[in-house]
Amino acid sequence: MISSQVGRFYTEQIAFTAKKRVIGFWDLRRLDQIVSNLLTNAIKYGHKKPIEITLDQDGNFAVIEVIDHGEGIAPENFDKIFKRFERVPNDISVGGIGLGLYIVKQIVEATGGSINVKSKKGEGSTFTVRIPLSS
Ligand SMILES: Nc1ncnc2c1ncn2[C@@H]1O[C@H](COP(=O)(O)OP(=O)(O)OP(=O)(O)O)[C@@H](O)[C@H]1O
Ligand SMILES: [Mg+2]
Repeated sequence: MISSQVGRFYTEQIAFTAKKRVIGFWDLRRLDQIVSNLLTNAIKYGHKKPIEITLDQDGNFAVIEVIDHGEGIAPENFDKIFKRFERVPNDISVGGIGLGLYIVKQIVEATGGSINVKSKKGEGSTFTVRIPLSS
């Protein structure tokens, strides 16, 4: 369990759970970009609530989930948030250029993987990334 701070935002609980031992071959810088963008968002929009990161395997894919219990995203914005320079109204006043999720989506799709979001306004968000074990 670790805590983390992004600018004036922080969370006291980040739990990482590896549901399986997952062995893969990835570009570590790209993997880092994926996880840090999602984690930064979870901290920024997570309203100081605990964050979970899980790792699992589904066939030939590694599955990474970043789960927060913060402000959530309205369903009509699920597609928009992955577009370049797109931001949506937030509960808190927070800066950003709207590139983070666009970059994550580009990287994930370049590996042959996918990213999707499940969220309920006011209850939090789960971002699920699936990347091939070898890419
Ligand atoms: N975990 C989350 N909870 C709620 N809203 C989120 C979450 N992650 C992203 N969003 C929404 O999606 C929008 C796009 O996110 P994205 O990471 O692309 O940009 P950003 O965080 O605004 O800026 P940056 O380019 O610095 O990452 C955000 O402005 C925010 O409204
Ligand atoms: Mg971001």
